Amino acid sequence: MISQSSCESLWLEFAAIVDKALETGPDTESVSRDAGAFLGQVQRAFAEHGSQTVSLEMRASLFVYDGVPLSSASIRGRFTIAFLRILRAGGIEFSRGLTVEDVKQLVKMAVQVVRRGMSRDRLRRDEVNAALGGIHLPESMDAVTWDWIDAGPAGNAYASAGFELDKADPIRRDTAEAVESAMESAGNGHAVKLEVARTVSEQVVQNTKKGFADLMHLAERPEFDVFTVQHSLRVSYLTSYVASMMGAPREVVVELGAAAMFHDVGKGRIPESILYKRGRLDDDERAIMQSHPQLGADILINSADVSVAALGAAWGHHHRYDGKGYPARRPWFETTKATSLIQICDVFEALTARRPYKAPYSPGRAYSILYSDQGAFDPGVLAAFTRAMGLYPPGRFVLLSDGRMARVAKVTDVLDRPVVRTLPDGALLDLSGQEHTSLHVVRLLDEPEFVELLTSGSEGSDLVGLAGEHAAAAERAEVDARDEELVFLAMEGPKDAGDDCSHGDDCRMC
Ligand SMILES: [Fe+2]
Ligand SMILES: [Fe+2]
Repeated sequence: MISQSSCESLWLEFAAIVDKALETGPDTESVSRDAGAFLGQVQRAFAEHGSQTVSLEMRASLFVYDGVPLSSASIRGRFTIAFLRILRAGGIEFSRGLTVEDVKQLVKMAVQVVRRGMSRDRLRRDEVNAALGGIHLPESMDAVTWDWIDAGPAGNAYASAGFELDKADPIRRDTAEAVESAMESAGNGHAVKLEVARTVSEQVVQNTKKGFADLMHLAERPEFDVFTVQHSLRVSYLTSYVASMMGAPREVVVELGAAAMFHDVGKGRIPESILYKRGRLDDDERAIMQSHPQLGADILINSADVSVAALGAAWGHHHRYDGKGYPARRPWFETTKATSLIQICDVFEALTARRPYKAPYSPGRAYSILYSDQGAFDPGVLAAFTRAMGLYPPGRFVLLSDGRMARVAKVTDVLDRPVVRTLPDGALLDLSGQEHTSLHVVRLLDEPEFVELLTSGSEGSDLVGLAGEHAAAAERAEVDARDEELVFLAMEGPKDAGDDCSHGDDCRMC
């Protein structure tokens, strides 16, 4: 087996070539040169351990070495991760006899796969393997993504902290399937069945009180390859959760969850070349993209079981509270609180989600964007949303000031002092209560970091120290990621002054 540092540097090197090839095209001199240098590195790895293959492994959207996530390489290798995930590949295996042409071919395939995204003409793993010499992309071992984490020490900690991921996972999959098949029907010109969305929404609602945190936890896990689908299901979970926290009756929550699930169904009729285009849309493309609310409403109105909520969500989710937005208002259309809620959940999701081109924003940063976008959102609904989600949303992992890790169980009236369940002992602490005034949340932990800290065996002040080092590394990685993001945004060009999108500068959903 090669060493961890060789493994990490091979991933980093390969990811850098893919990034460059995506920017400049795969056939440039510079990409060829880098491919040559990469080949040299692989050959040194062969020499290092003398076997017939060098394997780089990926699990659950993370590069890993001997089962341990390589966090910083994974952050930097987002496009390579997207490439492998789309193909459901579990890594890359290089054989002896590998040539520079083989490496170049792999890079070329990666560019094609990422550019096509999840479009209908996407490449399959067997096709890519057939086109590669000296390289094999093995099937992903994540039968259910994250199985390996759920079964390990982290899984035990989750169980003692009251997670019931086994119950939540089938619901998440049903939601994704409902959205995926609706998008497909829409794309093929068929009507969509809102009834399917309602049935799934019913399951979500049955689980909302206890299961929302689990559902959101699963939905937080990166799924780059299907981000339009993932987006819709997260918007739906957020909507159901916030609506029920606002005291909406159960049947209304079910209807809103279903409406949110299909709010972007019009995107099923947007050509993939526009939907998945990297870089800025030209005026014509933008107009086509902005027709998705109208297309969505057209699709839904032709469905036998359409509801006012679903129609309102599809048509009105890009309308702003101040009357701007798209499509142009009609005198007979009034934005309801329900549509306003889905609009807010839509934007919050877009900001806090991990995307192939950006790291997720923290809820705090998302709120600062939402609240500074004057006139964009219904202030009453935004306040209700904030109260329901808090600064540390249910299901998220946090580090406490005494060095314990915990999972947020419930938001309280004090937005930054939730009820948490500590890990791994499962004790329930209400941080807003008198008895815990000396304890506070230091910061959110994302799941890979949580797993890394948990498996490090550190406790108490050691853990706080280790988490501090992590925070510094994460900050450096975020600076790098933001630099990349800026490059990406620069490629798109500045937004027009009159842009109607209220999703913040990084929004790629509109
Ligand atoms: Fe949309
Ligand atoms: Fe959306």
